[in-house]
Amino acid sequence: MLVNMRDLLHDAQEGNYAVGSFSVANMEMVLGVLKAAKKLNAPVILQIAEVRLKQSPLEVIGPLMVAAAEAADTPVAVHFDHGKTTEKISQALELGFTSVMFDGSHLPLEENIAETKKIIALAEQYDAAVEAEIGCVGGSEDGSEDIAINCTKPEDAVRFAEETGVDALAIAIGNAHGNYKSTPKLRFDILEECEKAVDAPLVLHGGTGISPDDFVKCSKTGIKKINIATATFDMVEKTVHDCYNENSINGYYDLQAAEVNGAYENAKRHILIFGSDNKAEVL
Ligand code: 13P
Repeated sequence: MLVNMRDLLHDAQEGNYAVGSFSVANMEMVLGVLKAAKKLNAPVILQIAEVRLKQSPLEVIGPLMVAAAEAADTPVAVHFDHGKTTEKISQALELGFTSVMFDGSHLPLEENIAETKKIIALAEQYDAAVEAEIGCVGGSEDGSEDIAINCTKPEDAVRFAEETGVDALAIAIGNAHGNYKSTPKLRFDILEECEKAVDAPLVLHGGTGISPDDFVKCSKTGIKKINIATATFDMVEKTVHDCYNENSINGYYDLQAAEVNGAYENAKRHILIFGSDNKAEVL
């Protein structure tokens, strides 16, 4: 069923686990993620970022994501990731997304606060949740920019959360989008300070390449939403590749099944690590 992201993250805070937020580019990925959610009786978030709309137009994939969430057996929030423009954020809200991110991480703190507040006022009209980001997660969602990591200052996180009342706050603790060039060293000292001082659920971007141990530590230290994009795309591609090598694809529908399976296996693995399996009933 389609649910508000606020409720999913609230339950994750109560139950001390994190919800996987899986980026999707097509119907096969949507089906694979929801199959994993059903198999493990888990809440999940389906998301797409504004920079990915070149490949998957919002007016096409948005209704598909919402319809799939409505038809799902477990609670599913539909989230607009890294919203940059009010135009596209509004479009996502009109399509029925139950959460939007406004990414003002490149702005000075005051401006990020002011712009986030405008998006919160807009989202309120749809009873949708809002995620924001402070500090800078490295890289960019589609790998087109090499944004340097700028770790969040805990005092900024406190001020931001208090002044905006945002539903979820993405922080930068050494994490980056895309495949890491070297093993990520997460700043758990910063995360612990943020967790103590901020009531809002925290969000970890750049999930691909983070170790299971670090994921577990994050999920027990205030991180309630974990974004996974590259790992899904890579796993779908690898699964298709392996199936061709094994000669197990004979025709288009075998190819489609391989794509669904790649997204399914990737989502299943992450749900189990995040501890959100068997948490679908809590709502
Ligand atoms: P990855 O591509 O590193 O998994 O990052 C996903 C993400 O944070 C999307 O916002």
